[in-house]
Order: sequence, then structure tokens, then C-alpha cells
Amino acid sequence: MLTTPNRPLIAPSLLAADFAHLAQEAIAVERAGADWLHLDIMDGHFVPNITFGPLVVKAIRKHTSLPLDAHLMIAPADPYIAAFAEAGADHISVHPESGPHLHRTLQLIRSLGKKSGVVLNPATSIEAVVNVLDITDIIMVMTVNPGFGGQAFIASQLSKIAALRRLIDDSGHNIILQVDGGITPKTAPAVLEAGATCLIAGTAVYGAPDYAAAIEALRPRLPQPPEFGPGGG
Ligand code: DX5
Ligand code: ZN
Repeated sequence: MLTTPNRPLIAPSLLAADFAHLAQEAIAVERAGADWLHLDIMDGHFVPNITFGPLVVKAIRKHTSLPLDAHLMIAPADPYIAAFAEAGADHISVHPESGPHLHRTLQLIRSLGKKSGVVLNPATSIEAVVNVLDITDIIMVMTVNPGFGGQAFIASQLSKIAALRRLIDDSGHNIILQVDGGITPKTAPAVLEAGATCLIAGTAVYGAPDYAAAIEALRPRLPQPPEFGPGGG
């Protein structure tokens, strides 16, 4: 099981990296303190954009020891899950809308020894995961419509994140609550306050000049020690 951390996991999304230098971009965020590397897989059918497939995941795998967090925005997903597992993805997350049998898909991912994830689009209700919590390692809330990086955060999803936090806690299952889309130092605090334990950030990390500073800026501020005046303390 994935353990719930006492500080949020940060998963930079390679979608916002320089695609001519994917290995270097993966290495750079690993050195900068990333926890996972998020890989957006798009087919131009389930979402209106195309990215990359298992061959590229396999190539990246050789250059980083970060857990590879594959977000499949493809339909159907089932025929490609084994290929992503063999390519070295550690987590494989699917949208319930991408196939008729979510339970079977999650079973398949688990049977390949990988962490299973369910991704909820902005219009998708939490009901979609209620009956599969026992075979789910990650629940990902989309705070943009999937397909592109750099979109504006959809604040209406905060109540969904909070509802999922309660659902997970009440279930007793150890499930990571991930949020994807429009995550910045401005939006991250509300997302963490609502109960997320993993933040995915594309533009906010890869669009920044200093990846380490950008990752740190997404983590909660530690309480500052009180200031003492001259002679005080
Ligand atoms: C969108 C992807 C996201 C995307 C986030 O379909 O699932 O992972 O990379 O990009 P930002 O952080 O720029 O919103
Ligand atoms: Zn994603």
C-alpha cells in the first residue's frame, strides 16, 4: 500500500517539459525534490490532444528512479495497460468513462503488480469510486478538463476533494488523494486544506526557472518561529 505522507507528495507533469529533452527534464525534477513523475498519456480520441505511449515511458524509465505515475487519457484503456506496466509505469490511473468495467480494469492493474488509480473529471461524481475503494490505491481529482496543460483551476472541485477525503477516511483504506490541473502556489493551499495528499503540477514546475524552488513553493509553509526584538527571547 502507498502510505499517506505527512507532507504532500509533489508530482511534476512531464507534459509541460521540453519534449526534445525528456530524459534531462525527468532527471532535473528528481534532483529538484519531486516525489513522483506524472506522465500524461493522451490518444486524440478520449481527449483532444495526443502525447506519447509505452515506448516513451520505457525510454524515460531508464533515466529516473522516481515512481512513474501514468495518467491514461485513452479509450479503450484495457488493451494498453500491460504495455504501460511492462514499460515501467509504477502507478496506472484510468478514467471510469474510458471503459465499461472499471472494477475489472483496476483488478488488471493490481494483477500486474502496479498501483491502481481512478481519475474523476470535473463533471464526474464521487459515486464512480464508491464501490471500488478496496481495489484503488489512488484517486485523482481533475481540476481542469483533461487534455491540456496550463488551464485555469476549477474551484468548484474543492468540495469534491473534501468529500473524497471524508469517504477515504471513513473507508479505512490507504488511498492517495491526488489533484491534477491548474495547481500553483496560489491554488495549492486550498487543495491541501480540502484534504489532498498529492499535487500534480505541470506549468507551475516546468514553466518555472528554478524547479526546486517551484516544487518547494507548492508545499505548505511551516509555521515561522516568533520574532524576538533586541534583548527579547
Ligand atoms: C491535463 C493533465 C495534467 C496537466 C496539468 O490533462 O492531466 O496533468 O499536465 O498541467 P498544469 O499543471 O499546467 O495544469
Ligand atoms: Zn495528468
